[in-house]
Amino acid sequence: MAAFPSNLPVLTVAITGAAGQIGYSLAPLIAQGLMFGPHQKVALRLLDLGTAQDALSGVRMELLDCALPLLHSVDITADPHVAFTGADAAVLCGAFPRRPGMERQDLLLTNAGIFKQQGRVIRDAAAAHCRVLVVGNPANTNALILATSGGLNPAHVSALTRLDHNRAVGLIAARLGPTGAAHRQAVIWGNHSATQVPDVESLSSAAAPLSADDAAYFHGEFIPQVQQRGAEVMKLRGLSSALSAAKAIVDHMRDWILGSEGRVVSMAVPSAGNPYGVPAGLIYSFPVTCAAGVWHFAPGAVLTEDIKRRMDASTAELVEERTLAGL
Ligand code: NAD
Ligand code: LMR
Repeated sequence: MAAFPSNLPVLTVAITGAAGQIGYSLAPLIAQGLMFGPHQKVALRLLDLGTAQDALSGVRMELLDCALPLLHSVDITADPHVAFTGADAAVLCGAFPRRPGMERQDLLLTNAGIFKQQGRVIRDAAAAHCRVLVVGNPANTNALILATSGGLNPAHVSALTRLDHNRAVGLIAARLGPTGAAHRQAVIWGNHSATQVPDVESLSSAAAPLSADDAAYFHGEFIPQVQQRGAEVMKLRGLSSALSAAKAIVDHMRDWILGSEGRVVSMAVPSAGNPYGVPAGLIYSFPVTCAAGVWHFAPGAVLTEDIKRRMDASTAELVEERTLAGL
């Protein structure tokens, strides 16, 4: 896999669903240099539906009103060809949210059409090195649809589980404090859904052993706490996570493109060649390290039978989603 170019005078980033909640939190973070570094100029291409163009104009005005020195330009459009032409990176948030009474299958089929079309446009119009992050749900399977329909380099397509990873990191620190959390590696395995597997042990051999109480917490309550965190936020806010999602997107893309500097992070990536026995052909969350736009599976996780059983359940869900998507 080729490294991401390090000498772009201006880096073009397409954001889809940019008039939505996450888009509004995300665009200013990118324009402040938090994603691609404090010296990299960025051109933003904001894509949303025709009906959202007024809102998008407002977002553009506000971005310009921030007077950010790294912000080269902001283009708004309802045309995916305009958004993706020459894009170096793309963050795909544009998707229909789940409505009351809607089955998981309905959501998947509604959103599948968006990612099928965008996969082809990215293939035809984006830079060959374009790195793509899928955020819109169901994120793992949308990423698989995108990569398959566009025939994209699978290593250039990923889905967001960094938000789940960051949620786990926050809960570990809250429970164990800075000393107890030292060397304790959070990992998210599997699907960005309630079957995801939050794990604090498989890659934590250098950490101090857990007390019996803490082990009971991390084997018990902690798991649904991370799995259900998004639903909890939605219940309390009446809207799904947006500022934490935007921060996680920045973390994901920054570590992928600028490098994770040896830190292990969670990314949903193609499963082919993984050292953990997950079948090929899925976009599955794994522990990875990254440098210059290239990720590698982090080796050495020691999986308990419980973690393996949970990972299998997430695999089964992803296989079912893949079948529903007709892949
Ligand atoms: P939102 O409803 O506020 O915004 C979505 C935007 O997408 C809307 O402006 C809508 O007009 C636009 N859109 C719909 N179809 C489009 C298309 N074909 N092309 C371009 N734009 C299109 O939603 P949000 O809160 O910003 O969340 C976006 C997505 O991210 C949702 O699917 C949500 O479930 C998902 N999400 C994922 C994670 C994760 O960790 N993977 C976390 C939070 C949210
Ligand atoms: C989250 O994890 O917060 C979101 O994926 C929830 C959602 O369904 O949008």
